[in-house]
Amino acid sequence: MMPGVFLLEDSGQVASARVCCEAQMRVLALETSCDETAAAVVETANGDVRVLSSVVASQADLHARTAGVVPEVAARAHVKAIMFVINDALRQARIPTEKAATMLNAIAATTEPGLRPALIIGEASARALAVGWKKPFIPVNHLAGHMAAAWLASDVQPAVSHRFPAIVLIVSGGHTQLWRVDEGFQLRLLGQTRDDAAGEAFDKIARLLGLPYPGGAALAQLAERGDACEVVLPRPMIDSKNLDFSFSGLKTAVFYHVRDKQLADQERADIAASAQEAIVDVLVSKTVDAAACEGAVEVILTGGVAANSRLRSRLQEALGSIPLVVPHPQYCTDNAAMIGAAAVLGIHVPQSNT
Ligand code: KG4
Ligand code: ZN
Repeated sequence: MMPGVFLLEDSGQVASARVCCEAQMRVLALETSCDETAAAVVETANGDVRVLSSVVASQADLHARTAGVVPEVAARAHVKAIMFVINDALRQARIPTEKAATMLNAIAATTEPGLRPALIIGEASARALAVGWKKPFIPVNHLAGHMAAAWLASDVQPAVSHRFPAIVLIVSGGHTQLWRVDEGFQLRLLGQTRDDAAGEAFDKIARLLGLPYPGGAALAQLAERGDACEVVLPRPMIDSKNLDFSFSGLKTAVFYHVRDKQLADQERADIAASAQEAIVDVLVSKTVDAAACEGAVEVILTGGVAANSRLRSRLQEALGSIPLVVPHPQYCTDNAAMIGAAAVLGIHVPQSNT
């Protein structure tokens, strides 16, 4: 095994990897946990993780037909795309296939959480390459990947020098979680959603308004023309004495509001703006509470919903002097560069928290 990499137990269930920061390391990473087939090459450089290539093949159009992801359909699409994205990622990183074994130090892939049939395609491909090229395989938790996105450096994202303790808000289609992160990537889960994720709420409300899957970005766009004060909607758990979330009641409230109605364009925009504001209110309130309770000196906002500009601006405003770090949108939505970053940084999410 190469110096600097310590692969702990890899029983297929529990595994982690830690990388000595001084050792330069170049990794091919794969991500197939949901509906993006992604491959990337990243390398460590002075404590940052430099992106040499990041290729994402989206299946969004395929799943728009069913207004949601069918795991089996996603898996088949991953099988078709995976070799193309791997070849493209290697080509863009200027790594000839015949030299991959000497130019790469390890192969990483998302192994949890996610859609089982979809995850297996990325993991099996990465393990096969690792065996063929005689390199270690590094299993990566998808949520560790979303966190690690803030450590990536590339032409579109300058390196940031992070400060601890930091609060990380992960808001994606599958998760809504608040974490405390200390030096050495010591992680503590502070709160999470009890039902729907924030992205799921965006997507389901978008669907009620007749917008195509996945809907989050389209709802945000529609909200720009709407009045957020026009429709009164609940802010579930905003006053609870913990840092947990709940979004299913909000979706139900919108359902009852739109049921059996022919909505005019302006009404749809007003509902979109009101729903977005309700989700943003809860996310901002809990994150500010978490930062205050934990004495955070930095807040990181990541996951697909971090692309929402209303959330970003409201959160920065509410945090005052505490800096808010938001990865570039291409590293907020699912991608493999973040998986490579989590692999080389050795970010390990405690098993019970996924
Ligand atoms: O992180 P991600 O790419 O995949 C998961 O791990 O789930 O997040 C996808 C989610 C979807 O629910 C999508 O609707 C949402 O992120 N999303 C947005 C925006 N862009 C993407 N939600 C609100 N506003 C946006 N601009
Ligand atoms: Zn994700």
